[in-house]
Amino acid sequence: MQIISTIAELRERLGNEHAVAFVPTMGNLHEGHLDLMRLARVHGSCVVASIFVNPLQFGPNEDFDRYPRTLESDCEKLKGLANVVFAPSVSEMYPAQQTVFVEPPSIANELCGASRPGHFRGMATVVLKLFNIVQPQAAVFGKKDYQQLHIIRQLVAQMNLPIRIIGGETVRAPDGLALSSRNQYLSEAERGVATALYQILQGTKRAILQGARDFEQLQQRAVESLADRGWRVEYVEVRNKSDMRPADRSHRELVILAAARLGDTRLMDNIEVSLAD
Ligand code: PAJ
Repeated sequence: MQIISTIAELRERLGNEHAVAFVPTMGNLHEGHLDLMRLARVHGSCVVASIFVNPLQFGPNEDFDRYPRTLESDCEKLKGLANVVFAPSVSEMYPAQQTVFVEPPSIANELCGASRPGHFRGMATVVLKLFNIVQPQAAVFGKKDYQQLHIIRQLVAQMNLPIRIIGGETVRAPDGLALSSRNQYLSEAERGVATALYQILQGTKRAILQGARDFEQLQQRAVESLADRGWRVEYVEVRNKSDMRPADRSHRELVILAAARLGDTRLMDNIEVSLAD
């Protein structure tokens, strides 16, 4: 496994590779990321992982400074899973002020985008830059960040990028909590409560499978259950899977998405619901 920090060296290394499968990350890798690497292996003979904490996708009061940077242990974990690790500095990715951006579709202003203005614009911009640098044939993203995956699919389709986008399932702790680099911010007491997020998504899914169709009411109930347990809820929403618009009775493939805070820690999760017979 090679660890490369410059764009020139990466291009040199990948010049003759014809089946590159790419997994972009911000590092501090856990089993969820590693699972994406295994999925990437199915789609390419050369697996490239990037590790870059992208300043452009963090708001001024967000956790860019305290985001855990653990390059050495990340590279240990990637041995045997990735062929190349691309870990550029901020100045390598942004040698001058970035003045050209990807304008994401309007869904970027909803759900997570409502409380994180500019987040998806910064995310889509760095992902396009990384795609242009790595030039992969396939790229793997987690369904954990469902809205992100949706926006990437739109980016690739509408900008005619010759890259196959693959969505990986969310990897969870035994109690159901979705693995996230941000889980380590949780206190012991918060970690105990954190499992409620997935439980409430599962409960909402059960209600829909049993025939409930008043999505507004289901959302409201879920928000209240979380608030009762001490969460500050940003949203719980039932959406149509293919375009992520609010769900109505005619939709058969749904996704329930939630984001909420425990103390200072912002967690999110989602669950798919299929009503197709
Ligand atoms: P990061 O949060 O490091 O996530 C990297 C990839 O891992 C994303 O595709 C994310 O959806 C996936 N992932 C995170 N937790 C997961 C879990 N529990 N199970 C499965 N996959 C999981 O997402 C980003 O970085 C950045 O926005 C990035 C795309 C790298 C652009 O900067």
